[in-house]
Amino acid sequence: MAECLLIPGKQKVKGRIKVCGSKNTAVALLPAALLAESSTVLYNLPRITDIDRLVEILTALGAKVTSSNHHCLRIDSSSINSFTPPHSLANKLRASYYLMGSLLGRLGHVEIPLPGGCNLGPRPIDQHIKGFSALGADVEIEHGIVKLKAKKLKGAHIYLDVVSVGATINIMLAAVRAEGKTVIENAAKEPEIVDVANYLNAMGARVRGAGTDVIKIEGVNELGSTEHTVIPDRIEGGTYLIAAAASGGEALVEEVIPKHLDPVVAKLKEVGIHLEVGPDWIRVQGNNDGSLLPSDLKTFPYPGFPTDLQPPMMVLLTQAAGTSIVTENVFERRFRHVDELKKMGARIKLEGRTAVIQGGQDLTGAPLQVTDLRGGAAFIIAGLISRGETMLSGVEHVDRGYEKIEERFERLGVELKRVSMGERLFPGK
Ligand code: EPZ
Repeated sequence: MAECLLIPGKQKVKGRIKVCGSKNTAVALLPAALLAESSTVLYNLPRITDIDRLVEILTALGAKVTSSNHHCLRIDSSSINSFTPPHSLANKLRASYYLMGSLLGRLGHVEIPLPGGCNLGPRPIDQHIKGFSALGADVEIEHGIVKLKAKKLKGAHIYLDVVSVGATINIMLAAVRAEGKTVIENAAKEPEIVDVANYLNAMGARVRGAGTDVIKIEGVNELGSTEHTVIPDRIEGGTYLIAAAASGGEALVEEVIPKHLDPVVAKLKEVGIHLEVGPDWIRVQGNNDGSLLPSDLKTFPYPGFPTDLQPPMMVLLTQAAGTSIVTENVFERRFRHVDELKKMGARIKLEGRTAVIQGGQDLTGAPLQVTDLRGGAAFIIAGLISRGETMLSGVEHVDRGYEKIEERFERLGVELKRVSMGERLFPGK
């Protein structure tokens, strides 16, 4: 039965919350585990549906995955016996494309469906393929299946045309066991890339420069056991900071790496939010007395403002008195959430990659359709600050990236109610 989230309006965030492990690191670490000839242990994993899907895929490939607690997995990939992840499972999450780099690196062969696009516009993988070809893989794409094969991968000098998180990580996964040296230039610098590189190096890989735009990798023959703790999810943490700011409440967001949130903290200060930054926590005192200032927001690869927090930030800017301009420089069409926000009364005009927001407008609750993870997070924030109730359909998109979202927002003092559509359609019967 489909589920939806009911969000009563006019709620102020007030509470404290510990952030989970980073989804965008975790979805790369599980495929990366296949590069080891033995078992590795991952701690502080978020228990979200993308991770559950990846566990099913690794198991289907012959890995033994055991879990000692909700956020820890032991992955023994000593006896993986297949280079074709089940297509029905791989199709369920875009990040299954990391299995290309890891299976190519481990087995020299992989066959996997092309990742689907999604609601952010086209999501090509031409830069991933460019890297694999440079490393010596034969590439065949037909009937929507990518087939990669290489007798022996050889190190190469790869200059990315586009700063791409996925391509940077995927090429790293294929290169760590290639013969010789690989250089990735114009590499993405996201913290998630550094975390994946640290995990690979702990297994015995030799990756240098992750977090800068030039990554150098000396190939090794074998990778072994290790244990690794996933870094905190900067996007989840930023979501709560923006929710507190937009609702005029306050929140203590703990177990973050403040450095990873520098662009978000800077922008929140610009719009007039009072923040306190500690060694591993950030506190927001919202000041929703109408004194939010309009701002121009431009998304860029790290350390620019993260595109994943553009939708939540847009909701905040609808409350700032004046005109704000949001420019989405990372994805071609990451404005699918705008039409839904306009149903709530938001005054937003789209012009190509730019959204012009006439702020200072009260929002009213409405039935909204979630089509992507971060748009869903934005609708939750919009529902909290609106007059009246908001009903979100498509909650499964939110569950892909936020663990038990309603329980986590409850810790922040606000009520989200998850109901099955049946319940909602016949109230009172
Ligand atoms: C990762 O996606 C994240 N997903 C995204 O988070 C995030 O928005 C994005 O990086 C940017 O930070 C995961 O890590 C699983 P890109 P990815 O390759 O790797 C173009 C979320 O909600 N491009 O950095 O797919 C691409 O079209 C998700 O957590 C090519 O042209 O993003 C985009 O315009 C959403 N060719 C730009 O580069 C390629 O081969 C950046 O994409 C690859 C990408």
